[in-house]
Amino acid sequence: MRPQRSRTLGWLAGAATVQALAAWGQTPPALPDGTGRETVERACGQCHSLEIVLRTHRSRGQWEARIDEMIAKGAKLSDEDIDVIADYLTAHFGLPPP
Ligand code: HEC
Repeated sequence: MRPQRSRTLGWLAGAATVQALAAWGQTPPALPDGTGRETVERACGQCHSLEIVLRTHRSRGQWEARIDEMIAKGAKLSDEDIDVIADYLTAHFGLPPP
């Protein structure tokens, strides 16, 4: 019954790979440490993944415009949150000064 046994082992190895991939897919993207990181995770990950937020670098003005847009879509942010988020995103996902 050797062939049978190796097939079972192969199936187990496959299942483990699938599980590892699934767990990997759920890991939130690593945000750089810094003031505001938690606010961004809390405020910007509710409606979409943080990947959408972080895949483009923008100037501070562009980030503020984007945050305003999110508020128009229903994001609940205090003025303080907006400042903290704009600071964080500009610091880590900003554009080099012209
Ligand atoms: C109330 C829900 C909601 C919250 C909270 C929210 N967003 Fe969004 N966001 C959306 C929706 C809906 C879209 C998709 C818009 C579209 O399809 O054009 C989107 C899309 C985006 C995009 C991609 C659009 C583009 O122009 O590239 C960015 C960037 C973004 N959000 C940033 C943020 C940031 C930063 C925050 C935190 C301050 C945030 N979002 C919080 C609803 C939200």
